[in-house]
Amino acid sequence: MKQYSKRMVTVHWLTLALLIAAWYLGDSLADATEDSKATLAGYITHIAVGAAVLLLTVTRLLFRSKDGMPPPLGQTAMDKVAKGIHHILYTVLFVLPVSGALTLVSGGAGKALLAGNANLLPKKDGYEHVFAHEVHEMLVTVLIVLVVVHLLGAIKHQFIMKDGLMERMVLRRKS
Ligand code: HEM
Ligand code: HEM
Repeated sequence: MKQYSKRMVTVHWLTLALLIAAWYLGDSLADATEDSKATLAGYITHIAVGAAVLLLTVTRLLFRSKDGMPPPLGQTAMDKVAKGIHHILYTVLFVLPVSGALTLVSGGAGKALLAGNANLLPKKDGYEHVFAHEVHEMLVTVLIVLVVVHLLGAIKHQFIMKDGLMERMVLRRKS
């Protein structure tokens, strides 16, 4: 096995696209809350995209255990760091949406959604003392930092080491 399975590759890149959307939607939602103008639709779209990330991550771990993965390219300390980052990424991809769900419950927006009443949504400073919200926000920052390090690693392999690592994560099959 020289490459990740096609479905692992598809989920990897789909997760990137969904994360960008969830980040943008979450940021817009936070801005709307600060203007006391958040809408139910704003919450529903953010939750739908965030929940899709969680679903994809669970599916991905199933695919990973069934399809296996290509053997590591090397055994250097950097390869071990990269592997560690992969594991932390999986953990954050799981815990981040869960912290979002806890924010909904403990911040009061869940009740507004169940009642279908936008007037009950948190207003300006409404999330100030909501612990789950702080965790959710912090995990977004952690995720961004990890993805940037992961991306820098991929760039180093592609342009400095030129060892074909990127080809392991593409749909086109190597003969
Ligand atoms: C991996 C997916 C997710 C990402 C990248 C993400 C990202 C974000 C971001 C950037 C914010 C704004 C934080 C701030 O600056 O205050 C936010 C807020 C929020 N997110 Fe998520 N989120 C995700 C999943 C979810 C899920 C699955 C839920 C609910 C089930 C959720 C519920 C919320 C809530 C309730 C807020 C507070 C809105 C506000 O501050 O007005 N998130 N999210
Ligand atoms: C930003 C652009 C990205 C590039 C260029 C990229 C590139 C790659 C490459 C080349 C691999 C294969 C590494 C290997 O064979 O050892 C990989 C694996 C991986 N990537 Fe990305 N990636 C990106 C974004 C992301 C994002 C956003 C996430 C999740 C938040 C992510 C999570 C992972 C994980 C967990 C693995 C390990 C797969 C496994 O062994 O199960 N990547 N990535």
